[in-house]
Amino acid sequence: MKQQSQISEDVDRAASILHAGGLVAFPTETVYGLGADARNVQAVKRIFEAKGRPSDHPLIVHLAHAEQMREWAQNIPDVAWQLAQAFWPGPLTLILPRLDSVPDAVTGGLDTVALRVPNHPVTLALLGTFGSGIAAPSANLYGRVSPTSAQDVREELKDSVDLVLDGGRCPIGIESTIVDLSTQVPRILRSGKITKEALHRVLGSSVAWPSNIPVSSYPGGNPSHYAPRARIILASWDDVQQQIEAWQQRGVRVGLLASRLPNGLSQDVTWLRLAQDVDEQAYELYHSLRQADHLGLQVLVAVMPEDLGIGHAVRDRLRRAAGLGEVV
Ligand code: TXA
Ligand code: MG
Repeated sequence: MKQQSQISEDVDRAASILHAGGLVAFPTETVYGLGADARNVQAVKRIFEAKGRPSDHPLIVHLAHAEQMREWAQNIPDVAWQLAQAFWPGPLTLILPRLDSVPDAVTGGLDTVALRVPNHPVTLALLGTFGSGIAAPSANLYGRVSPTSAQDVREELKDSVDLVLDGGRCPIGIESTIVDLSTQVPRILRSGKITKEALHRVLGSSVAWPSNIPVSSYPGGNPSHYAPRARIILASWDDVQQQIEAWQQRGVRVGLLASRLPNGLSQDVTWLRLAQDVDEQAYELYHSLRQADHLGLQVLVAVMPEDLGIGHAVRDRLRRAAGLGEVV
């Protein structure tokens, strides 16, 4: 662990780099972000270059506290304040009508802006010192697995980032829940740690699931996302053994991502163990997908975890990693 004085030195350096138009990767409770001064168009453009991300893809503006919503959004509905009160700092992103002053480079030209107050002491200190919004996507190359450690970020982005703030492993491990409040009825655009039920408890009204919205119709709904190099094959306990054997017969290097070894598995398989508990599964998921790449696996057969709590989001990310593009 770093000393407090070292952390505040790093945070001061990070804030200076952001003020000078540089890129800083920072820890959050969900995944690492790749940040730039959200008011500096040139700096924001560097994010897209570093990630190889299409420039019409909007970014989340990270804030130090809910009051700062007023600097980026207009016509902020009461529900936004209620959700902010209930979940910020925390793994929730709100989509709101934007102020005209928000650069198009941040919103991809949309008339809405994504806002979030992340819950990580290092990054809250950075946001406080910096004093304005930090635009940041997850700190991975476009379409690939989000980083959950400082080392992941360094491996992925190498020299294209000016500083990586190391805040240890991200405690949640998958990206924030995104709720669109710019429409009449709130809609969940991406699932995460904050579940539909948790949102219902606060909103007391219906939150729509975009199950009837085609994946390509909202930004980030790209069906192939969060993907490792290995091809992901989704399996159930009933067909997992058959899947593994079928791929092994083709002579490819196969791994298994599951909470246990299937009964009667006849051949050796590289087992990437997934916990039983859904929160631990989320914590381990991206780490395991990266491990699959480090091990040079060509196929990773994944047994879908339970649809419970954050398990809903874990299933969503696995489907997307498999290129199936199930929404939320
Ligand atoms: O947990 C997280 O949300 C992490 C950490 C770093 O905060 N960030 C993250 O950012 O996952 P990113 O860019 O990888 O994913 C944000 C998603 C993208 O799919 C983007 O299209 C969507 O949010 N988004 C951003 N602004 C939007 C808007 N105005 N309307 C709809 N979707 C938006
Ligand atoms: Mg991302």
